[in-house]
Amino acid sequence: MNNKIEIKKLNLHYGKFHALKSVDMPVRKNSITALIGPSGCGKSTLLRCLNRMNDLIAGVRIDGQVLLDGIDIYSHSVEVPELRKRVGMVFQRPNPFPLSVYDNVAYGLKVAGMRDGSRISETVERSLKGAWLWENLKDRLDKPALELPLDQQQRLCIARLLAVEPEVILMDEPCSALDPIATMKVEELMLELRQRYTIAIVTHNMQQAARVSEYSGYMLLGEMVELGQTAAIFTNPSDARTQDYITGRYG
Ligand SMILES: Nc1ncnc2c1ncn2[C@@H]1O[C@H](COP(=O)(O)OP(=O)(O)OP(=O)(O)O)[C@@H](O)[C@H]1O
Ligand SMILES: [Mg+2]
Repeated sequence: MNNKIEIKKLNLHYGKFHALKSVDMPVRKNSITALIGPSGCGKSTLLRCLNRMNDLIAGVRIDGQVLLDGIDIYSHSVEVPELRKRVGMVFQRPNPFPLSVYDNVAYGLKVAGMRDGSRISETVERSLKGAWLWENLKDRLDKPALELPLDQQQRLCIARLLAVEPEVILMDEPCSALDPIATMKVEELMLELRQRYTIAIVTHNMQQAARVSEYSGYMLLGEMVELGQTAAIFTNPSDARTQDYITGRYG
């Protein structure tokens, strides 16, 4: 199947506020899907639905379906910690733990009960290589993660995810705290990761969506206004509201 995730008629209420309105969206396997739209339209809310991060917020009601490989992640049989391993998340500000580089990457493995030191070390190395940090950090694995430059911290958070072998990576404005050069490095990494993982990214930066994503969804006031191939959305949108947004009339 080509779609890793299928969102079907998804509604989310924060108390009385209807934040997602019957959203339908596929997330294609091994590709990058971008969520775009003006501030407050529901991008982060939708992204968080994909690994049930909104469950943690009091007063949230969700109906509809989010199928991951055809199985609804909101069904009772789904174990949320297991789901969050399969569908990992990277946030706006890098959030490494106040631990060493090594311990950050090994964290999820240890929580999962892995005790075999050489297997943990192999996984740490593979994950740091996967996030393009190994060459930089292999001699400084005991360095405190919080002392790294921000882009390395963000890539360390990606390495921490890779260690637990996710299938989907969610990124909520992962470059918004980074300068242009650091942003470029993270974007290049995303393009590489796409070969093995399914990625959904929220971005305010239209150029970023155009550079990295194959598919885009344009949201407005909790609705999915238009979705399709990024090139088509950006050059020839079919909805006038998308046109207004991408030509910078508002947002
Ligand atoms: N925990 C919450 N409780 C109540 N309302 C919320 C909560 N989180 C978000 N909202 C509201 O839901 C709507 C969508 O918010 P969301 O953060 O998903 O938008 P966004 O598109 O990610 O915006 P931004 O681009 O500013 O990050 C907004 O009106 C917001 O005020
Ligand atoms: Mg947001």
